[in-house]
Amino acid sequence: MQIADVQDEIDHELVTKAQIDSKIKEMAAQVSEDYRGRDLLLVAVLKGAVNTLVAFSQALSIPVQMDFMSLSSYGAGTTSSGTVTVRQDLSTDVRGRHILIVEDIVDSGRTLAWLVDELKRRGAASVEVFALLEKPSRREVDVDVKYRGYEIPDEFVVGFGLDYAERFRNLDSIAVLKPAVYQGEQA
Ligand code: IMP
Ligand code: MG
Repeated sequence: MQIADVQDEIDHELVTKAQIDSKIKEMAAQVSEDYRGRDLLLVAVLKGAVNTLVAFSQALSIPVQMDFMSLSSYGAGTTSSGTVTVRQDLSTDVRGRHILIVEDIVDSGRTLAWLVDELKRRGAASVEVFALLEKPSRREVDVDVKYRGYEIPDEFVVGFGLDYAERFRNLDSIAVLKPAVYQGEQA
C-alpha cells in the first residue's frame, strides 16, 4: 500500500520508501562487515519490526538465523512502569549466541532496555540493537543502539510495520497521520 491509497488520512510523508531502502542497505552493509564469520541471531519484536526485519535481513550478505518475540508493556497512566510481559517467547536457546535485536522504532526505550537485559540474563554471548527509527526527544531509558537509522521528531508515525490501532502496517513508507484520525482517542 502506498501513500496515495490512503491520502485522505495522511498528513505528510516523513520517510520515503527510497530513503528506507537506502538506509537499510547502508546499515546492513555495516552489520555484515561486523558479524562476518560469526553466528548471528536476529531477534525481532512482533509485530512492528517484521517489515524492517525482512528488508534488513535480505540486504545482509551473511547468513543469519531469525527468531521472534511478542511483548507487551504495561504502564500506569502516562508513565510507563517498564513492566514487560512476554506474550510469545523465542523458540531458540540464546545461551552463547550473538544476538542483534531488530526494532522498528525506539521511543521511551523501556521495552528495549528490558529485552536487552533479559537476553543477557538468559546467557547470550552478546546483545546489540538495530533500530530503523528513533525519537530521541522521547527517550526515558538509556539504551545503547549500535545500528541507528533515522532520527524523527516526536510525532506518531505509521507505515513500514508501524500501526495506529492495527492499521497502516502495510504502508510502504513512513508517514504522519492527520490529527482527525486520532480524534477522541489520542491526545
Ligand atoms: P518504547 O518501549 O516506548 O520504546 O516503545 C517502543 C514501541 O512502541 C515500538 O516498538 C512501537 O511498537 C511502539 N511505538 C512507539 N512510537 C510509535 C509510533 O510513532 N508509531 C507506532 N508505534 C510506535
Ligand atoms: Mg515494536
